[in-house]
Formats: sequence, C-alpha cells, structure tokens
Amino acid sequence: MAYFVSPKVLFGQGMLKRLSREIEGKGTKAVIITDKVMAKYAAPLVDIVKAAGYQVDIWDGAEPEPSLEVTITASKALLELNPQLIIGFGGGSALDVAKAAWVFYERPDLAMGEISIVPKTVLNLRKKARFVAVPTTSGTGSEVTWAIILTSKNRKIAFANHEIVPDVALLDPSLTVGMPKALTASTGLDVLGHAFDGYVSRQQTDFTDGLCLQSAKIAFDYLAKACKDGNDIVAREKMQNAATIAGLGFGNGNTSFAHALGHAMGAAFKMPHGRSIGLALPYSLQYVVSHPAIPNAPNPVQRLDTMAKFLGLEEKNDAKRIQKLIQKVRDLAREIGEPLNLKDAGVTDEQFQANFDNLVNLASKDVNLMSCPCECKEEQLRQLFREMWVGRIVGDNIQQF
Ligand SMILES: NC(=O)c1ccc[n+]([C@@H]2O[C@H](COP(=O)([O-])OP(=O)(O)OC[C@H]3O[C@@H](n4cnc5c(N)ncnc54)[C@H](O)[C@@H]3O)[C@@H](O)[C@H]2O)c1
Ligand SMILES: [Fe+2]
Repeated sequence: MAYFVSPKVLFGQGMLKRLSREIEGKGTKAVIITDKVMAKYAAPLVDIVKAAGYQVDIWDGAEPEPSLEVTITASKALLELNPQLIIGFGGGSALDVAKAAWVFYERPDLAMGEISIVPKTVLNLRKKARFVAVPTTSGTGSEVTWAIILTSKNRKIAFANHEIVPDVALLDPSLTVGMPKALTASTGLDVLGHAFDGYVSRQQTDFTDGLCLQSAKIAFDYLAKACKDGNDIVAREKMQNAATIAGLGFGNGNTSFAHALGHAMGAAFKMPHGRSIGLALPYSLQYVVSHPAIPNAPNPVQRLDTMAKFLGLEEKNDAKRIQKLIQKVRDLAREIGEPLNLKDAGVTDEQFQANFDNLVNLASKDVNLMSCPCECKEEQLRQLFREMWVGRIVGDNIQQF
C-alpha cells in the first residue's frame, strides 16, 4: 500500500467530553450502534451527543464475531432513522457492525447479491453521515482501520477500503475499565498479534514499522498490569493507546500469518478473536523464522531480531534473541491466563478431529495468508494445527509446554 490513512484520533482520560466539539453544528440526528451489554453503559455518551444538539437513537443489536446479516439489519434501521452522525460504541464487533451498517446505509445497493468490498471499490461514503468510533475494548484497532471483519457461512470475511476509515476515533480509557480480566487478556493478545503480524507482513512499510514496534513494547509493559488490576487507569490508557497504535500499524500494512491461523480456529471453535490470535502467535512466529522467506518479502529473521533488540532482549546471536522473544510472548500469555494450545482452550479431542480438515481449508483460504512472508502449503498447515493441538512449537526447537 503506498498511502497511509488515519482518522483524527482523540485520546486520553476525560476525552469523551471533547466529542461535542467534533460534532457540534454538523447535524441533528445521531444513531449509536452497539450491543446489549454496552448499551447499558452508553448514557454518558448519549448525554454528550444530545448536548451537542442531536436527537439520539440507539441500535443495540450487534453481536460478538458479527454476521453479515446483522450488519444489513442495522443498515435498515439507519435508513429509517436517517442520521447525519453514526457512532460505533463497543468492542471490535460493535465497531465493525457500525462500520458495515454505515457503508450499507450510504450505499444500500451494495447490500444486495454477492457482497464484495475491496480496496478498489469506489464507495463515495459521507454523502449522508460521518462516522465516529468509540472503542470499549483495547484490542482490535477497528476504530482506526480500513477493515471490517464479519462472519458469513461459518468463515471470516473481510471488507477493506480506505473510505471505511472512521472520521474520528475517540479513546477514553475510562470506557475500558469495566472489561473483565479474561476479555482484557484476550483482546490484549490481539494487540500483540497485530504488532507482530504487521511487522512481519509482506505489506509492511517504513510508515508502519515504528507503530508495530512501539505497540508491542507497550503491550509487553502494560498488559499484565491491566489484567492484574482492571482499575489501574494508567495501564488501561497504555493498552488503549497500544491497541490503536497497532491498528494504525497493521491497518496500513496488513495482518498476516497469526491472523490466518487464528481466524480458522475462531470460526471452527467459536473462540473469541483475541484468544485465537494469541494462541496462534508463537506458532506463527516460530514458523516464519524456520522457513525461507519468499523472494522480495521482508526477512522474518531480521525483522524479529530487530523487534527483540528494540524490546531490549540480550543474547549472543539472532537465533537466541528470537527464541527469547517468542518465549516472551508465551510467558505473557501464561501470566495472564490465556491458553497456549487448543486443548487448554477447551477444544475436545472429538471437536478437533471433526474440524481438522475444515481448519486447514479455512486457513489456506484466509486472505491473511497472502501477507505471510513465507510460503505455507496445506501439509504445513496440517502440521501446524497438530502442533497447536498438543502445544508444541514447529521448527527445530520442538518443545512440550
Ligand atoms: N475491523 C478490524 O480492523 C478488526 C481487527 C481485528 C479484529 N476485528 C474483529 O473484532 C471482533 C472482536 O472484537 P473484540 O475483541 O473487541 O471483542 P467484542 O467486540 O466481540 O466484545 C466481546 C464482548 O465484550 C463485551 N464488551 C465490550 N467492551 C466491554 C467493556 N468495556 N466492559 C465489559 N464488556 C465489554 C461486548 O459486549 C461483547 O459481549 C472480531 O469479530 C474480530 O474479527 C476487527
Ligand atoms: Fe486481530
């Protein structure tokens, strides 16, 4: 990608109040798109939008790992309400529902038949409404990305287009304080997955590298703290920043192998997005440093060694530094109580056997595989999923957890 896109990002404690300045005088009708859990916490947001001169409606039908159908239903509600401002409020799922509903509200013609939104599609958005994203998890980075990730026919599908990048991303860490520990942990590993995937992606650029490095550093420094004490507002703020910074990194350079593997597991076993990515991450990293890079792809060994040095890991040579880095990922996952293999994630033997071919099929078709710096064919995917089942790492250093 030869350009870099970002919304206006407002960040920091108390920032919710600043929203009025962004929206005042730009319309009279607003719709907040969220889910039933977060609708209960929307009152402060509603008050601010009302005070800025808007009539406010809430559509709360979003769902985790949302389906394409639910976004079309949301867009029909928008077509009836006719707002000039759409606000996505919630985790990545609610934000993606809101982004897709906004697209189909602006362009109802796109919601018919075989739906495909790719970078080249001319959308002509913002004829009816502007879009504000207010995240309440610290993970997906959806508040700043050009992507919408949905589920259709039991597999993850992605829409990608630079017009979909929100106008404003409003980060207020107080909105994330209510996240339970498991949600904090899994969404935090998604941040790490974005940082690493974006950094080794075949589409990385000079513009995305720094964002990926810095977001990984913040996540390593603050994720365990946010998990240990959910009221630690500094740790919450740092993780919120890390999520958005990683979003700008991978959003302008693509996610890669961990997301191809994670999406397959998420769809096959109904696993939350961040957990599936966190589980896949160390295996994906070991894979890319154990296999030759595709010609002209960024060299994963050099890249991960740079990451290890950036994080201050000291060892005699690059191979040892990289192993220490991968171990650091596993140690963090273990510390915050996230599974290191599919068995620990609660997948039974029967479920694994029944879904094995499907897993390989889903991963081999996942668009993120195209961003992987190494080739990964069907047989290698089979081997990787077998390793993820029992908790071994593919490569020279096979080890049992
Ligand atoms: N568009 C993108 O760029 C992008 C990138 C990565 C992932 N995703 C997608 O995002 C989705 C995952 O989003 P997520 O990980 O943020 O989780 P989520 O949005 O699915 O939320 C999980 C649950 O947590 C609840 N929740 C949200 N905020 C909360 C809070 N502050 N306190 C208590 N509960 C809260 C939600 O109501 C929901 O029940 C997946 O569908 C994934 O594919 C999108
Ligand atoms: Fe992700």
